[in-house]
Amino acid sequence: MNTPSVRMIASWNGLRAVAVAAEGLASGAPLLDALVKGVETVEDDPDELSVGYGGLPNEDGIVELDAAVMHGPTHRAGAVAGVRGVRHVSRLALEVLRRTDHTLLVGEGALKFARALGFPEESLLTDRSRKAWLDWKAELSTRDGWLSEAERRGLAPGAFGTARWAGSTDPARSSAVPGPGDSSTPPSAPFTYGTVHLSALDGAGEVSCLTSTSGLSYKIAGRVGDSPVVGAGLYADNAVGSAGATGRGEAVLQVCGAHAAVTRMGAGDSPTEACLWVLRHIADRTREKRLLDGNGRPAFNVTLYALRKDGAMGSASMHEGYEHVVLDERGARREPCAFLFERPRGV
Ligand code: GLY
Repeated sequence: MNTPSVRMIASWNGLRAVAVAAEGLASGAPLLDALVKGVETVEDDPDELSVGYGGLPNEDGIVELDAAVMHGPTHRAGAVAGVRGVRHVSRLALEVLRRTDHTLLVGEGALKFARALGFPEESLLTDRSRKAWLDWKAELSTRDGWLSEAERRGLAPGAFGTARWAGSTDPARSSAVPGPGDSSTPPSAPFTYGTVHLSALDGAGEVSCLTSTSGLSYKIAGRVGDSPVVGAGLYADNAVGSAGATGRGEAVLQVCGAHAAVTRMGAGDSPTEACLWVLRHIADRTREKRLLDGNGRPAFNVTLYALRKDGAMGSASMHEGYEHVVLDERGARREPCAFLFERPRGV
């Protein structure tokens, strides 16, 4: 039998992570340790606004992190959610898998577990993420005491001017759907559902995966998305392959996205077909007007990543224009995602 070569697929922000993970594997590290080592480079990056240190905080200005790992050979998973003050949550998730009989620890309990293991605690806000949060607060409403940038500079009526108390006239703020940023585009606007996902196949033909995120920016404290939920933000079945998701977690949770992608591959879909199937399912089940654009399509993005046991890989986004990372014998690189909906031309 041919020994399969190492394959990895990741979200756009996982370029360095896959390279570091591949080095770890080459030097003999177990697959999940190698993946954690790779993703720690993203969790350490202060400029990555959607993961780890420097991730955008919740509405109270506190960073809450979620992460999960899943190990194909044992079909076991470990996950943590709503963790404050610990940046390496993917390692913490791996400790849940290895040291406990449980799968998911949340909030205070997860922090207590991290303290017991000696994980360092720190503020995860950077100057950049604090400024983004303050700007978000200031722009959020004209009915609170926070002055927007325009008001501070005297370019807009102040707290006692008519516009301020008449309510926001900014149409962007009338939408309940956050901007399009997610892990498939470099973060430009400080608003994100971004996440890092990594699915991998090692030289022994075994699959595993990992997802880590600070979740939806400015979320209500305690909100947890798809990333740490096995079957939603990630799933691995050693007989079939591995998959993960980034983007609007609520949409992925409601269709068990990663599990659906692996199930579709098991039924014969290629990885790209499996990802597109999940996206069609999300689009079909998204019924609320507030979540749809003028063409009745989801106004948010989700990207799926899938890796089959034979080494085939594929990724697809709800909308055109997103990228993912692959690693194979030609090295690590970004490639365009397949997509469900074309970007409107001439816009
Ligand atoms: N996909 C990340 C989140 O929604 O939290």
